Order: sequence, then C-alpha cells, then structure tokens
Amino acid sequence: MSKVKNPKLAKNGKIAYEWARSHMQILDNTLNRLKKSKPLKGVTIGFCLHITKETSVLVMGAKELGANVAVCGGNPLTTQDNIAAFLASQGIHIYAWNNQTTKEYDWCIEQVLKHKPNLICDDGADMNVKVHFDKKYKTLNVLGSTEETTAGVTRVKAIEKQGKLRYPVIIVNDADTKHMFDNRYGTGQSTIDGYLRAMGLLFTSKKIVVVGYGWVGRGVAERARGMGGNVIVTEIDPVKALEAHMDGFQVMPMSQAAKIGQIFITCTGMTSVIRKEHLLTMNDGAVVGNVGHFDVEIDTEFLLNKSKSVKEVRPSLDECKLRNGKKIYLIGKGRLANLVAAEGHPPEVMAQSFSNQILSLLYIYKNHKKIGPKSMVVPKEIDRQIAVDALKAMNVHIDRLTKEQIKYAESW
Ligand SMILES: NC(=O)c1ccc[n+]([C@@H]2O[C@H](COP(=O)([O-])OP(=O)(O)OC[C@H]3O[C@@H](n4cnc5c(N)ncnc54)[C@H](O)[C@@H]3O)[C@@H](O)[C@H]2O)c1
Repeated sequence: MSKVKNPKLAKNGKIAYEWARSHMQILDNTLNRLKKSKPLKGVTIGFCLHITKETSVLVMGAKELGANVAVCGGNPLTTQDNIAAFLASQGIHIYAWNNQTTKEYDWCIEQVLKHKPNLICDDGADMNVKVHFDKKYKTLNVLGSTEETTAGVTRVKAIEKQGKLRYPVIIVNDADTKHMFDNRYGTGQSTIDGYLRAMGLLFTSKKIVVVGYGWVGRGVAERARGMGGNVIVTEIDPVKALEAHMDGFQVMPMSQAAKIGQIFITCTGMTSVIRKEHLLTMNDGAVVGNVGHFDVEIDTEFLLNKSKSVKEVRPSLDECKLRNGKKIYLIGKGRLANLVAAEGHPPEVMAQSFSNQILSLLYIYKNHKKIGPKSMVVPKEIDRQIAVDALKAMNVHIDRLTKEQIKYAESW
C-alpha cells in the first residue's frame, strides 16, 4: 500500500537511486555482505526520513536484508517525488509527497504506524514522539529505534529525562562517522547548493551571517568562506564563539549582525534566533534561510503573515515586503533550505550516516532486551568499522602502531 504524488515518476526515480547507490560504496558493501543471511527477516521497520535518492538506498537495503518496510517523509517539504514513486514501484509501503500540509504530514506518519513497526528509524523524532504520547500507540510493540539528527536527539533525551522512554534508542547522530561528516561536510555543501539554487546570486563579497557554530554551522561557515563570502558568526556558547573567532570569522551578537548581513543561514536547532526585531533592522534585499531541523529558527509567522505583501519570485524563494518598506527574501518558508531548495547531502556522506543506521538497527534488534529503555551512542566498534570502510572506499591508507609504540603508549 502506498500514497505518492505521481507513480509515473518511478523510472526517473530508479535512475536517481542507481546513481546514488553507485556512490555509496560503504553502505553497498555492508548490504552485500549481510543480505544472504537476511538478518532482518520478519521485522517491520518504520522509516520517517527525508525521501531523497540516498534514503532510497537505505530503504531498499533494509528490504534486501529481509525487513518489511513502511516509509514516510521526515518533513512536509523535502520529499523528492520521483524517489517516492520509485520506492512505491518496488513494493515498499510509502506515504510521502512533496509540499504537504502539516495535517497530511501527520497522516503519513500514522499510516506507517498502522504497519505496526518493530523498529523505528527516525529523523527529528516526530514518529517517536507520536508513539510515546498518542494514546493510540500505547500498546504498539516497538523494540527499539534509531535517531538521525541533533534536533531529534534533544527530544529523545527530554523524553528519557522525564522517565518516559519506552524502548532503547541509538543516537546515530552522535557517532563520530555521522556528525563529523554528515552535519559538517554534507550540510556545508548542500546548504550552499540550496542557497544558490534558490537565489541564483553571487556569494563572493557578500556578508554572510552563519547563526550557530556547531557541527552544521562550522561546515556552512567554512564553505561560505570558500565561495568568497565575508562570514560573520553569531553564537551563545562562549567556547564555540571563541573557536569561530580563532578560525578567523567575525563574531558578534545577532542584533549587530542583522544590520550588516546580506545572507543569513540559521544552523542552531534552537527556536527564534532571527526574530521580528532583527528582521526589521535588516538591509533591504537581505536573504534569510534555515538549515536547522525544524522551521522554528526564523520568525516566519511575521514574514509570511504580517508582511504588506508576499510573492514567490523564484522556486523556494518568497519576497516578503515589510510594512517598513524593506524587502526580505525567505528561502523554503524557513524549512531546511538544503533539502527544500536542493537535494540534501551528497551520497558519499550519506553512505556513512546510513551505514550507521543499518548497523544500529541490527544491533538494537539483537540487543534491545539487554539495553532496556534508554538512549545510547552507536557502539564504538561500529563507528570505527565505518571509518575503516570509508577510508577503504576512498583508497586512503594509514599507519598502524608498531609493537614498540603500543608498549610506549601503555607505559608511564
Ligand atoms: N539541514 C540538514 O541537512 C541538517 C543536517 C544535520 C543536522 N541538522 C540540524 O541542524 C541543527 C544544528 O545541528 P548541529 O549538529 O550543528 O548541532 P550543534 O549542537 O553541534 O550546534 C548548534 C549550535 O547552535 C548554537 N546556538 C544555540 N542557540 C543559539 C542562538 N540563539 N544563537 C546562536 N547560536 C546558537 C549552539 O551553541 C551550538 O553551538 C539541528 O537542528 C540539526 O538537527 C540539519
């Protein structure tokens, strides 16, 4: 069973899937190694992820390992309809299309839960929050879950802190081979891609304000500087602010940056970092967008509902004419600009993230009783093995400690 926008796009989706898979060697190798033994036979997995070509490789991989799979998008605006059509054509239960209302988005999550998943693979925790707090799912027998992103981690930890977590959750985001590469290099590149597609403007010489200097912010700031931008960083954490300063970026509060920036990129996972008071002081023509997980970082209510006029001037770019006469441009209605206006992360980086996902799903399936209802990091041996596989895939060789060095390291 599935509901997608246009099943005729399946052929095109298949080409995109094959292109991604051919650039996701680590994941492909892992799947090929495991698929004979069908380790997920009899297991139903509910996926709530951005439906991109890379995600289709993960989903098809889970099916190859024997799982019964049901899928919905991880955001109302990020589904690639050709990929959804391709997955539906492969007999995957998928409920996803681009440009959903929040009600439709919610409906799709519910359809996946009707398949009674034993395992959940979540991105942002929308599915896990539903399972925990909607009475309908009180008796659903979920054995465990994985969580893909920083914003979802915050929510899972909050549920755990209240003593309400029902099953183990492996925090894939916290694996070194995930956040150090996906959040930094994946978002770094795809954010520039999204902004360029949305604006079609020159980056070089522009004053670019990167809000938040965590894993995502670092990657975005570095890439924006690489494009010739004059990058300004805003932060609330003194250590991160110091790091940005030492990395050679200007650091200042948003109240100051708002007045001089030309392009704004929010990367915090925090709510209300660009507020009405900032928007009112921005330069005429400033472009604002967000790559944090939820659309809460910019006051989009003020821009989209309180402006004198709003008009779409390019795909994924709204011109908001404020009552003070200034025009502010908003990318992708304040939702993940790298996925709404572009295609999300490149496959090479997602191969690492999704190898973490598939190996963590297997780990949690085997060990859920032992772990109990708590969150945990990806086991070190999985994380390390992915680094070894990634180096191999990139044909990079490294040294090993000699016996003498091991002895030296163990002595005082
Ligand atoms: N777009 C994508 O494809 C993508 C990929 C990975 C992660 N994410 C999302 O991006 C967000 C950031 O992820 P991360 O891994 O960098 O998290 P992180 O915790 O490493 O970094 C967030 C940073 O924002 C800073 N911050 C918080 N409030 C702030 C404020 N008011 N002003 C300025 N800075 C503030 C924090 O101090 C921190 O340094 C999360 O929502 C995450 O889910 C998106």
